[in-house]
Amino acid sequence: MPNASVASHPGSRPGYFGEFGGRFVPETVMAALDELAESYARAKADPQFQTELSELLREYVGRPTRLYLAERVTRDLGLGAVFLKREDLCHTGSHKLNNAIGQVLLAKKMGKKRIIAETGAGQHGVATATAAALLDLPCEVYMGEEDMRRQELNVFRMRLLGKQVIPVSSGTKTLKDAINEAFRDWVTNVEHTHYVIGSVVGPHPYPEMVRDLQSVIGREAREQCLDRVGRLPTHVIACVGGGSNAMGIFHPFVGDHQVELIGVEAGGRGDAPGLHAATLCLGERGMLHGARTYVIQDESGQIMPTHSVSAGLDYPAVGPEHSYLKDSKRARYISADDTQALHAFRYLSETEGIIPALESAHAVAGLLRMAPDLGPDAVVIVNLSGRGDKDVQEVAAIMGTSRGVA
Ligand SMILES: Cc1ncc(COP(=O)(O)O)c(C=O)c1O
Repeated sequence: MPNASVASHPGSRPGYFGEFGGRFVPETVMAALDELAESYARAKADPQFQTELSELLREYVGRPTRLYLAERVTRDLGLGAVFLKREDLCHTGSHKLNNAIGQVLLAKKMGKKRIIAETGAGQHGVATATAAALLDLPCEVYMGEEDMRRQELNVFRMRLLGKQVIPVSSGTKTLKDAINEAFRDWVTNVEHTHYVIGSVVGPHPYPEMVRDLQSVIGREAREQCLDRVGRLPTHVIACVGGGSNAMGIFHPFVGDHQVELIGVEAGGRGDAPGLHAATLCLGERGMLHGARTYVIQDESGQIMPTHSVSAGLDYPAVGPEHSYLKDSKRARYISADDTQALHAFRYLSETEGIIPALESAHAVAGLLRMAPDLGPDAVVIVNLSGRGDKDVQEVAAIMGTSRGVA
């Protein structure tokens, strides 16, 4: 695990990234967050915990993941090199297991008897259910009914793993509502339950802890790039929902000021409220799920509905560290709309024989948007956060009606 912490952002108070982050929660959760922060700090410094975690990452998750040179994409776009960081090859099909396995291992060490999680696309739910199966803990996953419809396969996978999926019918029946319900559960059961949050969101210490657990992506990518091309990349691109795969790959590069960090949000169907989930591009400073960060809200501070073709990006806020990276201009955030993401989904499938998750297709769409301005010296790493198997049914339904797939 990296030794970098919030202290890597000079002047930040503990638990804050500049003005963002913090811990705005009911008193009943404060003690549990304190306990979690202390246990995590101990685990971070404990060589035995780190060895166990490294072994799980290597033997079970399948790390290190490949840094794959996408030669056809490189040629097609006229760039120096385009590498794909193949998180899609992790066990369970996405980066989500890096975090889930670390948190479930920590929960076990803390003596917790029950795991809960929320999920959007279902990948974090599957990852947590998998880690709980491996480490022998009961697990319940909250999931919005709309996401259950879009990600039926993942619902079945969680049930196959012997874990329970709890449908959430409030609000827009998506990720935000699932997080609300999971928090509600945690407040009543904190003594014996650990809540495995799936992204760099929520109150301190979650954003820092999830970032640390996902930073293995960036540490590997940095080293692999130096090995392969003898220099750092010029650009690192990742999609941003809550922001965990992006924070994971960005973090080890934050001090390398020559490396441009680009996050790609879900532009959905347009810039009007309710049609997108582009929080950093179009949102404002506010508060959600216990943290100060950019959010999508109306004039009275009410969180607004969002839309994205990809369930995993459909979140009306973003991890607080991304808000800090945006305001300090260390990272740049752009968006790709549904049509561009679907085009990129097909482009990568046809060009490299790799079907990306719809979330990751947004990162590829970001690359396609930026490519004309990059030139032959550009060495770009795109974080391929997950594989597309979970999305093919939804994409077939969309393409079948609007564009034809044959
Ligand atoms: C494959 C994949 N990529 C990206 C995301 C977005 O999450 P985050 O922004 O936390 O990486 C998800 C969320 O479900 C996902 O399944």
